[in-house]
Amino acid sequence: MVRPVEVVNRVGGSVERRFTSKLHETRVAAVLGIALGVSFTICFATGVLSHLIQHPPSWFEWPSRPAGLYRITQGLHIITGFTAIPLLLAKLWVVSPRLWTWPPVRNVAHAVERVSIVPLVGGSIFMLFSGLANVARWYPYDFYFPSAHFAVAWITIGALVAHIGAKIALTRDALRRAPAPALATATRMDRRRFLGGVAATSGLVALATAGSTVGPLSGVSALAQRRPEEGPQGLPVNKSAAAARVQPAATSDDYRLVVDGNVATPLSLSLADLRALPQTEANLPITCVEGWSRGASWRGVAVRDLMSMAGARLGAEVTVESIERSSRYRRSNLTHAQASDRDALLALEINGQPLHLDHGFPLRLIAPNRPGVLQTKWVTKVTVR
Ligand code: HEM
Repeated sequence: MVRPVEVVNRVGGSVERRFTSKLHETRVAAVLGIALGVSFTICFATGVLSHLIQHPPSWFEWPSRPAGLYRITQGLHIITGFTAIPLLLAKLWVVSPRLWTWPPVRNVAHAVERVSIVPLVGGSIFMLFSGLANVARWYPYDFYFPSAHFAVAWITIGALVAHIGAKIALTRDALRRAPAPALATATRMDRRRFLGGVAATSGLVALATAGSTVGPLSGVSALAQRRPEEGPQGLPVNKSAAAARVQPAATSDDYRLVVDGNVATPLSLSLADLRALPQTEANLPITCVEGWSRGASWRGVAVRDLMSMAGARLGAEVTVESIERSSRYRRSNLTHAQASDRDALLALEINGQPLHLDHGFPLRLIAPNRPGVLQTKWVTKVTVR
């Protein structure tokens, strides 16, 4: 078998003769590049935001309003990530002749540009593959997904910025004038058909994904990993009570909610005590980091009412803790603004029924504008700080 590099030597430096399609042209690469640039930028910005919300540094505070904002940003993250897959495949196919140019390196600047292609292409493939696998709940790797996905995102976006710097003039020229002769030149019709096909594929992928966030699209969303209405009480469950091993403690007569920490009067409340307290209702979505979300009507005790019953100081923050023993997400923090939002509840009911055990019976946190992993289930303790 003749390897492409040997062909290059024989044909005297023009490997492009191996690639016969005229669509391997700069103008098509530029259009796909811009589409990829837009989708990667939105995906990166919404991904970093989601990371900051889940692991907030001291300078970052996520507001509790608008209540459905995280639903939009995380829905966008998943949709732009999915739609980038056909764009990336098309872009790599279009520029494939460039990867075999001879000589491979012309000077130092060109060497740097070529080396930056490795993190760009490797990082892009890793980001889209690991994101897709995570949403599909398929874990063919040993690493902790959020840390790896976050770290590689920075490498990929750094390489993308360098790539844009290297290709911006070429992109501008290719889009303004007649196609540059770097690769082949396609006819306007060829180009329209090809780019139209890629755009249609990306559009279909967006439609097939969006149903997990946009309720009315759920019927046509074949790629949506969850139908938002699927699950007990019409709401999906990511971790069941059996998987969390909470059943005996959550259903025991000895169950108590303890409110302590920086309070004047520590509280220890049974389920009957909690039901006898003034109840607050809120319509809030539950939004998973994997992109699905579903609105519901919740009823329970407002966190701020509990704080004032316990005599918390003004400006206090709280940590909510689950019965679950071994999960990374067994605790979650609320800033003062989040805890004092009127709709931040320790819910006893969903849609008029007591919570299903898989939704966090007897008590779960539900507060506006938070990822689902921070809406702690099977709550047993509130520590005021
Ligand atoms: C994830 C995003 C992207 C990936 C993975 C990617 C990948 C590549 C690769 C592998 C090449 C061939 C390397 C070479 O020319 O030496 C290339 C070329 C190119 N890229 Fe990108 N790219 C991306 C985004 C962009 C963006 C945002 C733009 C526009 C600003 C762009 C415009 C171009 C252009 C004009 C070429 C040269 C095509 C030619 O020489 O005819 N790319 N890209």
